Amino acid sequence: MAKVKSKYVCQSCGYETAGYLGKCPECGAWSSFIEEVSDSATLKLTQDLPDKNPPQKLADIKINSEIRTRTNITEFDRVLGGGIVQGSLVLIAGDPGIGKSTILLQTSGALCNQGKKVLYISAEESAGQIKLRAERLGIKSDNLYIYSQTNFELIKKHIVEMRPDLVIVDSIQAVYTTTIQSSAGSVSQIRECCNFLMGIAKNNDISIIVIGHVTKEGNIAGPKVLEHMVDTVIQFEGDKYKSYRILRSIKNRFGNTSEVGIFEMGAKGLIEIINPSQAFLKEYNQTQTPGSTIIVTNEGTRPMLVEIQALVGVTPYPAPRRIANGVDLSRVLQILAVLEKRIGLNLSKQDVYVNVVGGIDVNEPAGDLGIALAIITCVRDVVFDSQTAIVGEIGLSGEIRGVSHIEKRITEAQKLGFKRIIIPDSNNIEEKFADIEIIKVKRIIEAITRAVK
Ligand code: TYD
Ligand code: MG
Repeated sequence: MAKVKSKYVCQSCGYETAGYLGKCPECGAWSSFIEEVSDSATLKLTQDLPDKNPPQKLADIKINSEIRTRTNITEFDRVLGGGIVQGSLVLIAGDPGIGKSTILLQTSGALCNQGKKVLYISAEESAGQIKLRAERLGIKSDNLYIYSQTNFELIKKHIVEMRPDLVIVDSIQAVYTTTIQSSAGSVSQIRECCNFLMGIAKNNDISIIVIGHVTKEGNIAGPKVLEHMVDTVIQFEGDKYKSYRILRSIKNRFGNTSEVGIFEMGAKGLIEIINPSQAFLKEYNQTQTPGSTIIVTNEGTRPMLVEIQALVGVTPYPAPRRIANGVDLSRVLQILAVLEKRIGLNLSKQDVYVNVVGGIDVNEPAGDLGIALAIITCVRDVVFDSQTAIVGEIGLSGEIRGVSHIEKRITEAQKLGFKRIIIPDSNNIEEKFADIEIIKVKRIIEAITRAVK
């Protein structure tokens, strides 16, 4: 009889032990261990993948140029690094309800229109529900197959028999393999199913896109285990209650990471936002109020103009509040400390709120100067020039430090019709810019005198 092995696996980090533990020594989670039993005989049988790639000399290896299929959804192609690579396994992760099923159904539709065969495996919704969504999105195609199934062995059988060009698995948390006796969604199930999918993708040259839900803590559930197994990890971000959605590649074996694609959720699915700066500045008030600036932030390889707003007011609380929306709170606290020390702005009795308009996150220090100026103009009740954009990192001694991709940022500001841009003095510019005045500053105080009326 085959030997039956049992182990305990932490459901939040994947740590394994032979016996039950109350607290995980790896990630510190409590009561996170679940017993998992695997039957070694069945495991061996199912893992018997054909050995297609024996070791070979470096010189003998032939390079097949990657075969990419463009989805023709430009923003999605950009994030993928130019289309879906044949035989790759892609993970799309995001909160429930953010639009993962929608974008992948749209992608399926777009590929089917190019004559590709797509198999959409829905482990969460019935075929009827998918059909309803497809109708809403205006997708009709004879090349699109919907398969509502959670059993991985059946799924595998149909993929191998049908040999589609693209397979969508919606979602990895809902499928289960019978080789492991834990419930669907557990770390081992996810890891095992993902492993099998990787094998199918590589051995049959089928591209597979897997959907993964994100846990409360923001980890890709079945936590980070999935991330290093797949070729590409794409995060789907945005607020469920706002219409902008951002696709961000956080790992890509076939392209640039931190590339972003921007969409808006509409009544007929996700619509691409080709010109994000324009969209984000739509509500920008040219007759400005104090406390608002425009910065040029860089997302992946693309510069984007976004508005930063600050509100400063006397606090009714014993300790003043500092709230940051769309920027890192510790970054804001650091900027406040610098403003206090270096330009004597006393904010110890003031609440400070900082907000990035449009629901996107500004995660780079190049936004510092814009945040600082938004706060300063709000405190002093003056208006920042509405025709000026601003970039620069603030150092602890109040100096303005250089930022990356400065020329791209200037070009973007110029394209959007800005007359001036304030940049760090240490950034060298080789290109010539005719329609935009470039103001170089070394200290915060210079930026204030140059852009505040
Ligand atoms: P869905 O793709 O089901 O999210 P996920 O698969 O990530 O859980 O989309 C969820 C939301 O999108 C849902 O609240 C309805 C909304 N939606 C639209 O606003 N317009 C549409 O055309 C579609 C299909 C969905
Ligand atoms: Mg879904």
